[in-house]
Amino acid sequence: MKQTKPTRPLSLETQIVHGVHTVHTTSLDLVAPIHMTSTYRFQSADHGAGIFDGTEEGFVYTRIGNPTVALLQEKMAVLEGGEAAIATASGMSAIAAVGLSLAKPGDNFVSCTTLYGGTFSLFNRHFKDLSIESRFIAPSTGRTAEQIEALIDDRTRFLYMETPANPTLDILDIRLWGSVAQKHGIPLVVDNTFASPYLQRPLELGAEIVVHSATKYLGGHGDIIGGVIVSNAAIIDRIRQEYAHHYGPAMSPFNAWLFLRGIKTLALRMERHCDSGLRIAQWLDAHPKVDAVHYPGLPSHPGHGVARDQMRKFGGMLAFEVKGGLAAGKTIMNAVSLCILAVSLGDCETLIQHPASMTHATYTPAERKEAGIGEGLIRLSVGLEDPDDIIADLEGALDLA
Ligand SMILES: Cc1ncc(COP(=O)(O)O)c(C=O)c1O
Repeated sequence: MKQTKPTRPLSLETQIVHGVHTVHTTSLDLVAPIHMTSTYRFQSADHGAGIFDGTEEGFVYTRIGNPTVALLQEKMAVLEGGEAAIATASGMSAIAAVGLSLAKPGDNFVSCTTLYGGTFSLFNRHFKDLSIESRFIAPSTGRTAEQIEALIDDRTRFLYMETPANPTLDILDIRLWGSVAQKHGIPLVVDNTFASPYLQRPLELGAEIVVHSATKYLGGHGDIIGGVIVSNAAIIDRIRQEYAHHYGPAMSPFNAWLFLRGIKTLALRMERHCDSGLRIAQWLDAHPKVDAVHYPGLPSHPGHGVARDQMRKFGGMLAFEVKGGLAAGKTIMNAVSLCILAVSLGDCETLIQHPASMTHATYTPAERKEAGIGEGLIRLSVGLEDPDDIIADLEGALDLA
């Protein structure tokens, strides 16, 4: 079959739809099939031995590799501009895999304090039990190279950040942190969950490793859990050899297939999440009962300038505080009917939740204060509905507060 080659590099929007080729099928499917198999036949004893010693290409066992999972990994490497990727069973297993591959007992790493609550307790409690020290820096003080460098010593193995950060929407400067990491010869790890590669490509800005809770915007439909790590081939190989093959956080082929399906509409969904997010943030900002709105797209946000520089648009996540604090916030969460009271984010439906008692209950009140997570803060993951319907829902709830 004669085929023409593209005459110009593919844009990110086109790569989101195409990106990788279906190499593991002879039936010319438009969509790659799901390879639901735990193991693979060898053609002969020598063939099997050759796959094991790396002289032959092929799959051995799905914990180690699977054609459907491999397609997702290839796609994510393309979308993040990396060389290789590992898909894992959850975002948490991706983060644990990175941390435990790079740091050993006695080592430390520097992280911003404002993180998803599960990541914070993994770092602050579970890594601590393994004698891996997390050195936290509050986002507001993490903005000069000197402040970050003051925490680095010869046992510091990596820098870690979320931007935009969960749940405060703090923006950290990836270029700045990346230059500090490069100066000290260690990788910067960025959790790119809130932005997705459509809005932000940390590897182009100086990060060396990207992690995702793919559960969120990559899946996009609230029906699967998964994680992804993207980096250069050497780091991905190290994470595979030192962690993934033995701890076994493999993604199911069925979930990989659903992620491949979800990603095809990433650009369209993100455009809508961003436009609606900005509109709802502006509306909340002007509401007399709202004390503060945290959304990087508002010029009043302290990270607006950096966000403009490192993100394509400002995302679909926002947080706000209402007059009357937590009591008023609870009234709103109980009164909304279209916004769904649930954790997670990046779904088609708008989700509302209270970080201090839900996603960030793993912080003590003092730790939340340090991380800038107000007790009355409400987080909104703006979905794909008509934003006017969401505004009407919030307006009715605010009337009762
Ligand atoms: C920013 C961020 N990173 C990581 C995770 C953990 O991902 P998962 O729930 O897929 O394990 C979450 C979960 O909410 C998150 O919000």
